[in-house]
Amino acid sequence: MLNCYQYDAFQSKSQLTYFCLDDKLKWVIRRLIMINDKKVLFSGMQATGNLTLGNYLGALKNWVKLSDEYECFYCVVDEHSITIRQDPAVLRKRARTLLTLYIAAGLNPEKNCIYYQSHVSGHAELAWILNCFTYMGELNRMTQFKDKAAKHADNINAGLFTYPVLMAADILLFQTDVVPVGIDQKQHLEITRDIAQRFNSIYGDVFTIPEAYIGKSGAKIMSLQEPTKKMSKSDENPNGSIYLMDDPDTIMRKCKKAVTDSEGHVLYRDEQPGVKNLIDIYSACTGKTPAEVEKEFDGKGYGEFKLAVGEAVKAQLKPLQDEIARLEKEKAYIDGIIKNNAEKAAYYANKTLRKVQRKVGFPDRIR
Ligand code: TRP
Repeated sequence: MLNCYQYDAFQSKSQLTYFCLDDKLKWVIRRLIMINDKKVLFSGMQATGNLTLGNYLGALKNWVKLSDEYECFYCVVDEHSITIRQDPAVLRKRARTLLTLYIAAGLNPEKNCIYYQSHVSGHAELAWILNCFTYMGELNRMTQFKDKAAKHADNINAGLFTYPVLMAADILLFQTDVVPVGIDQKQHLEITRDIAQRFNSIYGDVFTIPEAYIGKSGAKIMSLQEPTKKMSKSDENPNGSIYLMDDPDTIMRKCKKAVTDSEGHVLYRDEQPGVKNLIDIYSACTGKTPAEVEKEFDGKGYGEFKLAVGEAVKAQLKPLQDEIARLEKEKAYIDGIIKNNAEKAAYYANKTLRKVQRKVGFPDRIR
């Protein structure tokens, strides 16, 4: 694997010189810069709906923590988004905001490969091949397909059905070792592993078999109105979710309105799902453990606790919102990242793709 410094040097400073070298030397340079002992991490998010506090605390914040340890690819999976009908202008805008959010949240775009799925054609190309190694029966068992098909009964398209295969392609394209995902994506990770193992058993060791990485704390932020349901971008009740772009007053109002219970104690127990969820949110925002939170609010009422949660969420989101606003003005900078990272991702993607194409019997390219 190419490390970021080597890659940057290679990209910016030596690009001109590089292209003047003969093929043998180019090959040697490529071998040298591929030495990197870090494991590969891949994850992605869809740019559909308004992102929520759950997306940030449950996913993005963990991504930032993992980004030192792994060679990371963080993708805006816009190709997955069109399995449900989208307004093109809205999708484009949201994809850009999501990519900006990755950076605003603290992912360094020079070290982490942050890019749009649709800019790297290998995703769709590998997905096609993997479609031919996936059974209808397997896809029929996917609970997310069943849920989405029920929700969008007027548009049960083939893309929605083969959605997990595109996701498998995303992951396998980069020889990924770990995939941080929410629990709802675990089944998709399992089918990815099955497809990879099936392919490897026919053609030899082509794909790395990826592991799911299910985050521990803050992995699941629930709805403020129905605390047994996940906080979701597509929730019809806007009071159930705190959106990343909510202003401070809205955040406070939603926290104050959050459903609790009649127990009257700030305790971290399954029997009090609303309070438990608020403790999770407060913990994730402040870094305190649930036990510390229980202690802090021992003998205090829900009103006081909810105020503190509201303040903590406000303090968490304000810098993020400010940074997004700042980055949105840096158009040339973001454009540069989009371009460079798409090239970097395509470089790795093509290595796997060419190998796969060769294995299944496609003719060699003529150079
Ligand atoms: N399906 C994932 C979700 O909705 C998004 C996704 C697409 C993804 N491709 C991926 C996540 C690859 C992890 C790895 O959350």
